[in-house]
Amino acid sequence: MTLDAGKKADILERLLPSGFSFKGSGTAYAPSNIALSKYWGKRDAALNLPCNSSLSISLGAWGSKTTIDQSSTSQDEIFFNQVKLEDTDPQALKILAHVDLFRRTQNIPLRIVTSNSIPTAAGLASSASGFAALTLALDRALGLGLSTNVLSMMARFGSGSAARSLWHGFVKWERGIAPDGTDSVGHPVDVSWPELRIAIVPVDTAPKKFSSRDGMTHTLATSPLFQAWPDQAENDCTEIEAAVRARDLRKLGALAESNALAMHATMMAARPSLNYLTPDSWQVLTRLWAAREEGLAAYATMDAGANVKLLFEARDSDSIQTLFPNATVIAPFDNPPEL
Ligand code: PMV
Repeated sequence: MTLDAGKKADILERLLPSGFSFKGSGTAYAPSNIALSKYWGKRDAALNLPCNSSLSISLGAWGSKTTIDQSSTSQDEIFFNQVKLEDTDPQALKILAHVDLFRRTQNIPLRIVTSNSIPTAAGLASSASGFAALTLALDRALGLGLSTNVLSMMARFGSGSAARSLWHGFVKWERGIAPDGTDSVGHPVDVSWPELRIAIVPVDTAPKKFSSRDGMTHTLATSPLFQAWPDQAENDCTEIEAAVRARDLRKLGALAESNALAMHATMMAARPSLNYLTPDSWQVLTRLWAAREEGLAAYATMDAGANVKLLFEARDSDSIQTLFPNATVIAPFDNPPEL
């Protein structure tokens, strides 16, 4: 067991029942999410504990569905989008490391079938919805009945942003202060905003060259601007939550866009510089800002990749599609699948 896995296992020892068996097929859906107030920087890298709170919007029908059954062989079997993964596949290894946090020393060979409804061409990471769906499906297949706090914490072990993928709508992930991170969990922000739209403007759909984990470590260790980031991000998160509660698009959009640009500026100041945005991303932003000058109420946010996500309301969908013909528009509150 690695040191990181050991640290998680120590915490789970207290939170999971000591013995359990396979209870029956477990299926779960979890949506992908886009942070409106970003998580960038870990105060504990092994436990994925963030330096600041963050707030996201879930992407409704864009997400991951996972079914877990007992394997009919003595081996684990993993299928991703209908393809069986090799035992040595890095994605299979990450999934099994997560499953082992639940199984620990118990030998329960599983068949794990995951499918992703996020179009690959959108260039959106699926790790948040993937780890959230896997965590929920394991809870059901093993009959654990874990609380949402523990589920969010376990999803976080797989990928930080997965802590926010256990609900639809707006979700806040509290930074927490406990060294073991038991208070660093997500919770839904009870606001319905049916007119809200998210558009994904694909810029570069190839897998990212620098993982968010490596990017965060590098930024924290070398960017002179990082010192200012956690406090600014925590304030932004509080104000963004207030703008969500007021359903004030102009306020929310302006804050979310500034927060994303501050995160990218902090990365760019790292030594050597870390750049996820490409000239094409900047071109999308320039076009957006010009349209905003003309009165369009749309705002941008960008994550650890070149693609640009836009925030606006339904009445501007046509203008957005005209401005960015390759954009996909998502209605996050429109009949999202059951979790
Ligand atoms: O959860 P991770 O390790 O993939 O990191 C997510 C980082 C950002 O997407 C850039 C920001 C966020 O809060 O989702």
